[in-house]
Amino acid sequence: MHKHTIESVDICCGLAWGDEAKGKVTAYLAKSGKYSYVCRWAGGNNAGHTVYIDGKKYKTHLIPSGVFYGIPSIIGPGCVINKEGFIDELTYLEKNGFDIKLIKVSPLAHVVSQEHIAEDKQKYFGSQGTTARGIAPCYRDKFGRTGTRVEDDKFFESYLWDNKLEGNILCEGAQGFWLDIDYGNYPYVTSSTTLPYGACSLGFAPQLINKIYGAVKIYDTRSGKDPDFPEELMNDPELAQIGEVGGEYGVTTGRKRKVNWLNVDKLIQAVNISGTTDLIVSKTDVFEQVGKFKFYYNGGLVTCENMDEMKKNIDCILESNCLLLNNIIYSDNPEVVVGLE
Ligand code: IMP
Ligand code: MG
Repeated sequence: MHKHTIESVDICCGLAWGDEAKGKVTAYLAKSGKYSYVCRWAGGNNAGHTVYIDGKKYKTHLIPSGVFYGIPSIIGPGCVINKEGFIDELTYLEKNGFDIKLIKVSPLAHVVSQEHIAEDKQKYFGSQGTTARGIAPCYRDKFGRTGTRVEDDKFFESYLWDNKLEGNILCEGAQGFWLDIDYGNYPYVTSSTTLPYGACSLGFAPQLINKIYGAVKIYDTRSGKDPDFPEELMNDPELAQIGEVGGEYGVTTGRKRKVNWLNVDKLIQAVNISGTTDLIVSKTDVFEQVGKFKFYYNGGLVTCENMDEMKKNIDCILESNCLLLNNIIYSDNPEVVVGLE
């Protein structure tokens, strides 16, 4: 019998509140050609990934970035999937010349119904600032054991994944560490496991995990309600300027994101608990443009003269606080991540 074996697994996860440029990192990694599968392990079309391929901008919500490079792209058992959203995205990708036959859905994933979406809009969109994609009601039904799995819905028949994984696997996170159902500021969280251990639900042993790429921006942003990100942040002229220069509007909802200085205390926790080995800090170009260089550490605001000084400070703090971290990369480009391999 021919044995299919997984060689190793790399995972890219968000270390903040989503929108940390995970899409850029996974697409750049997928481009290397060393992966035979790119997989999503959690969430649904509440996510919004912006990816630049040969200078052209693409936006996806559900489908993993492998599809941009001809790699089988799997929506895993831990995901939730809305038919209409799925069709929209397939149509969009096909129209842009990508091979949608590469896209497969786990029979164990759960189906987001129109009722889930209506309930989310009515109950949670206003009170919690959700993306109104039916995520919480769908996961509630899943864990209440009354949900509908993809395998029970005829529509998905031609998209079913055969549960096979082999070679090198890349797992693409959705949302971020501080939106995790357990670690986030409950109930202002999403309803799934955003931490990399959740990726094991795709069907591999944790011992196979090689690298964990953690994505973060040089400043924090929050889309949706959260008492840790009060609306008054919008009134701070420096933070407002960062939001404008950084184009901080939601990919899924179009909402303006709240901006704050990078909280390095929280970043240390996220790096350590996630097991991040390689950290990618994006959008340093925004700080260069705005000319302000600040971050929170030990509960206080630290001000630096320039980007170099800020990088040196952050490197030094993380090196002494994050023992599993091997590599820190700063990126000022939306498509290319110099030094990432
Ligand atoms: P839900 O996942 O739609 O239930 O939303 C729960 C919270 O997570 C809300 O505050 C959303 O704004 C936030 N959220 C969900 N997905 C994303 C994302 O991909 N980026 C940023 N925030 C997100
Ligand atoms: Mg996003």
